[in-house]
Amino acid sequence: MNVLLIGGGGREHALAHYLSDSPSVRIVFCAPGNPGMELIAEDAEIDISDHKSIIEFCQENEIHLVVVGPEAPLAAGIADSLNGAGIAVFGPSAKAAQLESSKGFAKDFMARHKIPTAKYRTFDNTEIDAARKYISDHKFPVVLKADGLAAGKGVVICNNEEEAHSVLNEIFGGKFGDAGSTVVVEEFMKGEEASLFAISDGKEFVVLSPSQDHKAAFDGDKGPNTGGMGAYAPAPIVTDAVLAAAKEEIIEPVIRGMAEEGMPFVGCLYVGLMIKKNKPRVVEFNVRFGDPETQAVLTVLRADLARLLASAARGELDKRSMSTEPDGFACTVVLASEGYPGSYKKGVKISGVVEADVDKDVRVYHAGTVYGDDGELLTNGGRVLAVTGHGWSLEKARERAYKAVDKISFEGKMYRTDIANKGLKK
Ligand code: AMP
Ligand code: GLY
Repeated sequence: MNVLLIGGGGREHALAHYLSDSPSVRIVFCAPGNPGMELIAEDAEIDISDHKSIIEFCQENEIHLVVVGPEAPLAAGIADSLNGAGIAVFGPSAKAAQLESSKGFAKDFMARHKIPTAKYRTFDNTEIDAARKYISDHKFPVVLKADGLAAGKGVVICNNEEEAHSVLNEIFGGKFGDAGSTVVVEEFMKGEEASLFAISDGKEFVVLSPSQDHKAAFDGDKGPNTGGMGAYAPAPIVTDAVLAAAKEEIIEPVIRGMAEEGMPFVGCLYVGLMIKKNKPRVVEFNVRFGDPETQAVLTVLRADLARLLASAARGELDKRSMSTEPDGFACTVVLASEGYPGSYKKGVKISGVVEADVDKDVRVYHAGTVYGDDGELLTNGGRVLAVTGHGWSLEKARERAYKAVDKISFEGKMYRTDIANKGLKK
C-alpha cells in the first residue's frame, strides 16, 4: 500500500521509519516532512491545511492510508474530509478529537462515564465571579487549565490563592486566545506520570508499551514545562495491575462511550496517567501519538505498523499484526535549542548526525531541522533532534542513546542527562 503521513516532527520521523519498514508498504509520502524523513519518504509537496488538495493528492497517488501525526489538523477536521472522500485515515474525526481539543469536553465525558480523574469544575468567561469563589474555597495546589489547544502551555499548577487568581485573570484576559475563553479548575493529583497509547478502530483496541515522558526542561524535573525532553519504554511504573486497571477503567469506557455518543474514536488514544499506589487516574487525553514517547514506543513495538494502523482506519482492527511482547527497551533523548521552551536561536549549524546514526541500535530522529542553502543541516526549532537508543536492557538503551548524543554538536545544544533514571531505579 501507499501511505501519506501528515506532520514533520520527531514523532513523524519515527512513524515514517516504521511505516516504510512495514512489509505491506510500497511508498510513504509525507507532508510537510523534514530533512530526516526525506531520506526514507517522498515529499508530497501539499499544504496540509488544504483538504481538497490532500484528497486530490491521495486519488492521484493511490494512497490507501493517511496517518495524521499532530493534533491541529485533526481538530480542523482532516479525518472528516478524507473519510467523506472514501479515503482511509488513521486519526479521529473533529468531534472525537475534542477529547484533546477541549479539556472541558474531556472532563465532562469522563464524569459521564465514571472514568477516574481529578475533581474539577468548568467556568466560561461569563462566570468569572463563580470561578474566583471556587478557587478561594479550594485547597492548594490547584490546577488551572485553558480549555482549548495551547501547545502544552495552557496548564498551570498554582501553589496558593494569590497565584491562582492571577493565573485565572491571565487566562480569561486572553493569554491563550480563544483557547482560554473557558477554564477548567481541577484538583492537584499526586503520584507518578506515565503515557499509554491505545490503537482503536472505534470499537476495539490494542495497547502499546507504556512509556514515560520527561516534561520539565531540566534535570530532576526542574524548570518550565516543555513538549517533552525525552522518553523511555517500556516503563516499569505501569505494572500488570496498573495496565489492567487502565484498560478496564479508562480505555475500554472511553472507546465504548465515544461510540455510544455517536463519535467513535479511530486512531491513537494517548492517555496521560497519574499513578498512585497502583491506581491510575487520567491527567489528560491526546488524540494522537505522543512526542517524544512515540520514538521510544515504536522502537520496541514488534508489528507491521502500516497493517495495524490501516486495519484500525478501516474499522477492522487486526490485533495479530502486532505482538504484545516488547522488543527490548528504548530510550529517547531530545536535543533542544538553548532557551526552549522560551525563545531560542534558529539556523545554527549541526554536526555529527551521520556519525551518531551509524550504530544499528541507534536512530537519530529529526524534529526541528532544515537544510541551509549550501546543503548543511541547521537547527529550525526548539526540539531539534530525538536520539533513540535500543537495547536488551534499559541501561544499554540509555547508554547507547547518550553515546550518540555526545557525537552531535551545535551551539546551544541543551538536553537532560537523567532520561530513564526513574525506570532504572525501579
Ligand atoms: P496536560 O497538558 O493536561 O498534560 O498537563 C501538563 C502537565 O501538568 C501534566 O503532564 C502534569 O504534569 C501536570 N498536570 C496537569 N493536570 C494535573 C493535575 N490535575 N494534577 C497534577 N498535575 C497535573
Ligand atoms: N509528550 C507529550 C505529548 O505528546 O503531548
